[in-house]
Amino acid sequence: MDRSVRHARRFLRDTLVPEHVETGDELLDDMALVVDEFAANCIAHTASGRGGKFHIALWAGEGVLRAEVTDEGARGARPLLRDAADGESGRGLQIVAALASRWGHRPDGPRTTVWAEFPSPAGRPRAS
Ligand SMILES: Nc1ncnc2c1ncn2[C@@H]1O[C@H](COP(=O)(O)OP(=O)(O)OP(=O)(O)O)[C@@H](O)[C@H]1O
Ligand SMILES: [Mg+2]
Repeated sequence: MDRSVRHARRFLRDTLVPEHVETGDELLDDMALVVDEFAANCIAHTASGRGGKFHIALWAGEGVLRAEVTDEGARGARPLLRDAADGESGRGLQIVAALASRWGHRPDGPRTTVWAEFPSPAGRPRAS
């Protein structure tokens, strides 16, 4: 399953660079971290982690890049942002909330699609 997380990372980089993000842009690291956390949650908390799959979709809109990850369902359980004071676990979505400009989730039948948005560098002045 570690392999699928690596694939997810590579898919992200190959899709975004160089058209949407320059190599070495911190945004790519942030997006990769968020996708890692989403993928880890699919594996830990949903049927995707029991011989299943998860799906990643990337979307570029006006001034925004969006990553979406769809799992195979957790018998009706959904992502829940835990209190930062909770300690050991519940850090994944805290990280997502800190790095993404917006994030959320929606049901897709029994599955869940989690999504996170980032400001697109396209609208950002280039450093010279
Ligand atoms: N795709 C998902 N489907 C159903 N429940 C989810 C999903 N993702 C997260 N959750 C629920 O939301 C909770 C919080 O997720 P979060 O990633 O913040 O913490 P964690 O996975 O429990 O621990 P950590 O990420 O720190 O290892 C999880 O414990 C789980 O109950
Ligand atoms: Mg997690």
